[in-house]
Amino acid sequence: MLNRRNFLTAAVGVAAATGLAACAKEDDSSSSTSGSGGSKKLVLGFSQVGSESGWRSANTDSVKEAAKEAGYTLKFSDAQQKQENQISAIRSYITQGVDVIAFSPVVVTGWDAVLKEAKAKKIPVVLTDRSVETSDESLFVTLVGSDFTDEGRRAAKILEKVLEKAGHKGPVKIAQLEGTTGAAPAIERAKGFKEVMDADHADDWKIVVSQTGDFTRAGGKQVMAAFLQSNPDIDVLFAHNDDMGIGAIQAIEAAGKKPGKDILIVTVDGVKDGFIAMSEGKINAIVECNPLLGPQLMEVVQKVKDGETVERWIKTKESDFMQDQAKAALPTRKY
Ligand code: AHR
Repeated sequence: MLNRRNFLTAAVGVAAATGLAACAKEDDSSSSTSGSGGSKKLVLGFSQVGSESGWRSANTDSVKEAAKEAGYTLKFSDAQQKQENQISAIRSYITQGVDVIAFSPVVVTGWDAVLKEAKAKKIPVVLTDRSVETSDESLFVTLVGSDFTDEGRRAAKILEKVLEKAGHKGPVKIAQLEGTTGAAPAIERAKGFKEVMDADHADDWKIVVSQTGDFTRAGGKQVMAAFLQSNPDIDVLFAHNDDMGIGAIQAIEAAGKKPGKDILIVTVDGVKDGFIAMSEGKINAIVECNPLLGPQLMEVVQKVKDGETVERWIKTKESDFMQDQAKAALPTRKY
């Protein structure tokens, strides 16, 4: 995985890839977006994870709009949360000789072979949103995305405030709804949360149950219903995204409990539906993960195409929100 603490800059040797722009072909079967740029449009192949959450839809819209705005030809594909689909899409972009490939990897491992193929064809690869684990860091140029480990830490820190506000005393039994197994945000959010828990709450907090809900509402609902069967006395839910939190709220209500009161809830993302649930008192705090990565991504893609040096990890700026901020913040939420 990209060492997320490593701020080395990467010299981007892509002069040869720039030459490939002239051979880039349009793929009629792909969703292609053309803007009002010059005659030689930059061709970007983008492989999206899927459409599993509100965050993902906002991210897809942001990428498409920003590519249009930048005047690039965007070849876009949705992998439906399947790594094999992403690998096929990337291979197709390599065959087509796109200028730059960008993708948000569904899981962290298993990318070396296809990334080596891109490197052999001198097509630079930019990661966005999620990182990968690779034996050779030169297989991608940069990551444009959030610090998920820090989001996990922030979730634990904001939970301290939530517990204090709720007047909760004594042991805290925590249920964790994890994101997609093997995905960077699932691994790193769990890691960051545990880091704070082990350091500051070894005696009073305990994760009593933890399972993946695959970042979906349906997954969150189903897994939370099972959690409540096996552990009816859960105090807190930490959900790795809003959608799973919203699914879990339905399960909590179906079990005759009050989300946000009987079970305190902290989620990650900050999509509109999350803010609505928070303004209704059903989520206690949200750690923001900003999906509007399109403009930054397009800027980086242009630099990479031009052979400029870019930072190894371009981090997203984010905030945290407590329930009492939800109503005021809701009208200005952009996603
Ligand atoms: O990689 C970002 C995560 O993926 C978001 O937190 C989640 O909602 C999405 O599915």
